[in-house]
Amino acid sequence: MQVGIRSEHDEREARVALTPATVASVIDLGCGVVVEHGAGEGAGFPDSAYEDAGATLVTHLDRMDVLLSVGALPQEPPVKPGGIAIGLVDPSANDALLTRLTAEGTSVVAMEAIPRSTLAQSMDALSSQATAAGYAAVLLGTTSLHKFMPMLVTAAGTMPPAKVLVLGVGVAGLQAIATARRLGAVVSAYDIRPETREQVESLGAKFVDAPTQEMDEGGYARAVDEDTAERQREILADAVADSDLLVTTAQVPGRAAPRLVEAATVARMRPGSVIVDMAAGSGGNVEGSVADTEVDVNGVRILGPTNLASKVAADASRMYARNLLEVLKRVIVDGELSVDPDDPVIGPALVAPRPDDEGDSDE
Ligand code: NAI
Repeated sequence: MQVGIRSEHDEREARVALTPATVASVIDLGCGVVVEHGAGEGAGFPDSAYEDAGATLVTHLDRMDVLLSVGALPQEPPVKPGGIAIGLVDPSANDALLTRLTAEGTSVVAMEAIPRSTLAQSMDALSSQATAAGYAAVLLGTTSLHKFMPMLVTAAGTMPPAKVLVLGVGVAGLQAIATARRLGAVVSAYDIRPETREQVESLGAKFVDAPTQEMDEGGYARAVDEDTAERQREILADAVADSDLLVTTAQVPGRAAPRLVEAATVARMRPGSVIVDMAAGSGGNVEGSVADTEVDVNGVRILGPTNLASKVAADASRMYARNLLEVLKRVIVDGELSVDPDDPVIGPALVAPRPDDEGDSDE
């Protein structure tokens, strides 16, 4: 059985689905590994490293039994009918393509839909990539700032530490706090979920006292009503205005990102301050942020990067490849593809219909 690794054709994507170090483990599952030329280059993994690990290099993938990708699939994914495609395939944005694949008998595992349970932790690509993104957000913001992150006591004077505020303390936010603390900044943070206070404080940061509310049964934040949102924005405004670097990560699954910072608050920030709005791709936490664009508001720069994990492509790929390897171990048994729709990890992530749904997928 052949497992294919695509070269991600989006020029902003530097990650790769499988690293040379994981190729041997896939071969151990009884598979051949076929890699498109240059697939790992953006992440620092040359073709020769894949060859040394036992993979076959090709210019274009033929149709594979298993196709691994980082991002969305191309219109003609090189996967055999009856085969399986596994990646962060963004099902809501690619419904037509995935419906067509389904009709051809291809299974699709959407890595973003792997349950975030303890059992599936090693396959949780949302978490691994959010970890990379949270780290990269702080480094991006740091290099955009005109000042030091730590306090420096020098013969030329004492430079105060940067004040960093992180809004949204999920996986990315926690890593952003930890990274800013490692760099020596004074860090504050806030999340709507009350249990994050302890996590924030355990990282040596201060929790900002704004409204909190219990999460939904899936462990995610619920959308807040407009009164609560207004109170949030009012209470957060002073902390935002006083920050040198603001990193926002707040998301509510299936909805536009909550607006936490208004333009009037941005206008109160000191010139030279920097905002990294990690939610810019889903509407933004900060009024005025634009996806993948730098906006200057009276000297305050608002960045809206949508693929931060790609900025640390080597380690993000290493983590993602480990997530994929664990998924492969569940769908390849004795060298054969064996997709169990009732598997508690794979089942919920299967985009293609379960066998007993077939024929009902016409709408
Ligand atoms: P996310 O990317 O969906 O959202 C980021 C953060 O934004 C969340 O912490 C959320 O509470 C916060 N947020 C949403 N609306 C907000 C608002 N109006 N104001 C302030 N903050 C707001 O979250 P992520 O990082 O994907 O994690 C979501 C949840 O999943 C967390 O509860 C996390 O603990 C849980 N999780 C559980 C895992 C497990 O193994 N059981 C693994 C990974 C995550």
